[in-house]
Amino acid sequence: MATTTRVVVDAGDVVGPVRPELFGGFVEHLGRAVYTGLHEPGHPLAGADGMRGDVLDLVRELGVTTVRYPGGNFVSAHRWEDGVGPPAQRPVRLDPAWHSTEPNTVGVDELVAWCRRAGVEPMMAVNLGTRGTQEALDLLEYCNHPGGTALSDRRRANGSPEPHRIRTWCLGNEMDGPWQVGHRSADEYGRLAGRTARAMRMLDPDLVLVACGSSGLEMPTFGAWEREVLRHTADCVDLISAHSYFWLRDGDLASFLASGVELDRFVTDVVAAADEACAAAGVDRRIDVSVDEWNVWDLEAETSRPPTGSDWPVAPRLLEQRYSVADAVVVGSLLMTLLERSDRVAAASLAQLVNVIAPIMTEPGGPAWRQSTFHPFALTARWARGDVVRCRVDGREVATARSGDVPAVAAVATWAGGAGGAGDLTLLLLNRSPDSAAAVEVDLRGLPGLGLREALVLAGPDPTRVPTLEESDGGLLRTLPVADDGARLRTTLPAASWAVVRLAR
Ligand code: AHR
Repeated sequence: MATTTRVVVDAGDVVGPVRPELFGGFVEHLGRAVYTGLHEPGHPLAGADGMRGDVLDLVRELGVTTVRYPGGNFVSAHRWEDGVGPPAQRPVRLDPAWHSTEPNTVGVDELVAWCRRAGVEPMMAVNLGTRGTQEALDLLEYCNHPGGTALSDRRRANGSPEPHRIRTWCLGNEMDGPWQVGHRSADEYGRLAGRTARAMRMLDPDLVLVACGSSGLEMPTFGAWEREVLRHTADCVDLISAHSYFWLRDGDLASFLASGVELDRFVTDVVAAADEACAAAGVDRRIDVSVDEWNVWDLEAETSRPPTGSDWPVAPRLLEQRYSVADAVVVGSLLMTLLERSDRVAAASLAQLVNVIAPIMTEPGGPAWRQSTFHPFALTARWARGDVVRCRVDGREVATARSGDVPAVAAVATWAGGAGGAGDLTLLLLNRSPDSAAAVEVDLRGLPGLGLREALVLAGPDPTRVPTLEESDGGLLRTLPVADDGARLRTTLPAASWAVVRLAR
């Protein structure tokens, strides 16, 4: 007989305020993310700056708060100066990271202007692959110094009289990965990152600086890398990065749906390494985690392979993964984990934003549209308000090959009921079981006076099917039937589903 999972929302068990920085995105010069993604002069909906208005609208609707730029692997051989100044005079370069040709039509000034229009904060990465401290300082001065120096006046002459005021800076990208141009040992990278961070702070002490952590939980150097890097940087960086991609491997849906458990373990281990490193260095500060690349991405797919040989295309179709309902459920679940771990996860970036493993897709000369993964992100970014609140969940477990036995149902809530709050509760629910629906009873007795406003569920009879463009663009979520007696909610979550339930006073 099916057992009912009991969920208790305890508004007193607060993780902390919802951090807007958890809803970041990422734009890399990779494939069609920039060219024919953000930027397509001549498109009927492009503005005078060549930026597509339909994409801007979808970015606003998605609710991203920050955009990490310009990479990714791309940044590790990138010369930022190539992307500033009169576009016709910018050099065309080979990009070794993605075996592509980079026209440099879009650079830091265009990206920052686009961010301001989109209402998001840029998060800039510097090249610590082929370059070093001086170039990082130059880019910082170019971007953030008001004027009166060669570099800041160059920015002004290039059409940006006001400083870009970029606060968060990534000290390189995935420097632990052998695939990275300029890959370094933890000792080499740690020394370089430390030197660069200290120098950047001399120009601006208020920056938020992110050291490269591991490119994934499965990296053989994971743990040792963090400790060694932080040995050199614990006194001068604020965050350590953690990158995490998940995908359906060998049809093992149960393990895939438990990806959030893996992300949670990853965060736990990074935090342990960071705390240990700070203690060992005798540094009395806390280094939190920037999950500045996370998503569903099938690394083994044909679409993930860069061109080879003499083929160096401009903006090729790369990493244009089409997402299923299960992929979207996992994206929703990973956001639940990020919220629950926001005691130590200070920032996160969905990788990426447009065309490249992205919630937003475009056709050159054609429409921009929403993938399945767009919806859980947009709903969470919109409705997660106030404080993140832990839920107690008591129910059956699901056996998984990758993560062992995990609770079938997961729940996390946000509560904006404190002083001056709107009095609304958002409940995010997940059913990790690939084949069984879950009867759920939510105890709200600690939060009297709430009424149900909306309940939506993301599920499908065949969760691994990729919806058509029209289906995924149109919404995908259905109303979730919920019985509300004022003290308890009763509902049934379909197999492999993610749901958002909103209540208000
Ligand atoms: O997001 C795609 C790639 O994944 C990024 O360029 C790199 O940082 C990571 O390996």
